[in-house]
Amino acid sequence: TSIGARGLAGEAYRGHVFWDADVFVRPFYDHALPAASRAMLEYRYLTLDGARRKAKRLGYEGALYAWESADSGDEATPNYLVTPMGEVLRVRSGELEQHISADVAHAVDAYVRATGDDAFLREGGLEILVETARFWASRAALDEHGVAHIRGVIGPDEYHEDVDDNAFTNALARSNMATAVATATRLGDLGLFAPGEAARFTDLARRLHVGIDPETSVIEQFLGFSALEPIDLAQYEPRNVPIDMILGRARTQGSQIVKQADVVQWIAMRWDEIDEKVRRASFLYYEPRTAHGSSLSPGVHALVAARLGLMDLAARYLDETARIDLDDTMANASGGVHVAALGSLWQAIVFGCGGVRPAPFDDDTLILEPHLLKTMRHLGFPLLFRGRRLEIHLEPQGIEVQVEGDRPLSIRAIRRAQPIDVSAAPSRRYVLPMGDSAQGGWQETRP
Ligand code: IFM
Repeated sequence: TSIGARGLAGEAYRGHVFWDADVFVRPFYDHALPAASRAMLEYRYLTLDGARRKAKRLGYEGALYAWESADSGDEATPNYLVTPMGEVLRVRSGELEQHISADVAHAVDAYVRATGDDAFLREGGLEILVETARFWASRAALDEHGVAHIRGVIGPDEYHEDVDDNAFTNALARSNMATAVATATRLGDLGLFAPGEAARFTDLARRLHVGIDPETSVIEQFLGFSALEPIDLAQYEPRNVPIDMILGRARTQGSQIVKQADVVQWIAMRWDEIDEKVRRASFLYYEPRTAHGSSLSPGVHALVAARLGLMDLAARYLDETARIDLDDTMANASGGVHVAALGSLWQAIVFGCGGVRPAPFDDDTLILEPHLLKTMRHLGFPLLFRGRRLEIHLEPQGIEVQVEGDRPLSIRAIRRAQPIDVSAAPSRRYVLPMGDSAQGGWQETRP
């Protein structure tokens, strides 16, 4: 099974499984209790038939996962909901929030990279990758210039419905198709593809449109976003109700107000595939436009702010995320804890402040790029990575790591934008001086 949006702590969302599990909670388990991640992904394998049924019902091939998933994997999102004001609203996420299929594929790939569990690929993971890629290949449509588009979706920002070329969706669909082919090739198992299909996925992935303004380097959240009404969110602060309740649904939908991390979500999930300048410009553009109408949003902003070195902002968002459940800031604690926010809190600290991530194109190297909050004198955490158990300690003046396992692990610290590598042997301890004037490489010390 997997984990519902409020865990077992309450009945909100009826225990349904969202991307909250795959994208927000799963990374913690990858590095703390991989068997739990595997169980969550096996749940996605068990519900693959439901995802196939949904794709077929909507006229597509492959697998389109349920936005809200229960026991069979058939779509469980209600079609309507009643707001606290008594208004009946149509809910279109079950039909249009299709990034869920790419989120699940991302989760499979990220889990395998973090744990090295290739056996899971052979026991269902690869089938998930290929079936979700197959969905995108049938979903994308070529225009007369040979550019591929995905029209009529809801991205993570649920204030804007039925949009074309949501950058998050397109970017993840692109990775989904490319990863299915690359993974099958690496395993030497192309048996799940029809003749010519792998080449078609590779070609389509290259053609998918992702709009980046060449002058500002800002990723366009979806086609036409920049022409919407700009609204200065700051003038509504402090506020304790969602912005769409203040402005009304129609005005919010026609504005540049973003409900939750969307472009910023892409940056957080696939950091190394986006150019440095584009990451920074896009974060600075979307952060003031984001209303954090979902508990999933502030933790992701904390992560990206920390990686960009915007430490005051990172501290503020970390605090905001922690207070969601502790102080009931969303006034819905009776429905249970917000597990995605808790997962994002862990990610903001370890992946954001610790800068932990696998090296691009080199799965067996772990990157550490610390961005400690000004108030952090010491950040220490245990971490499982590809069969090794690490103890990591980060301080403004240095990094210390110890690896346990049956083989060395290559660790790459980033100091003042420069990579400094060490092959860390098991049961040894390594330190690296950090700070503005630090010199020299990793030193082995006594355990
Ligand atoms: O999955 C989230 C979604 O992104 C925003 N609305 C609530 C869902 C469940 O937490």
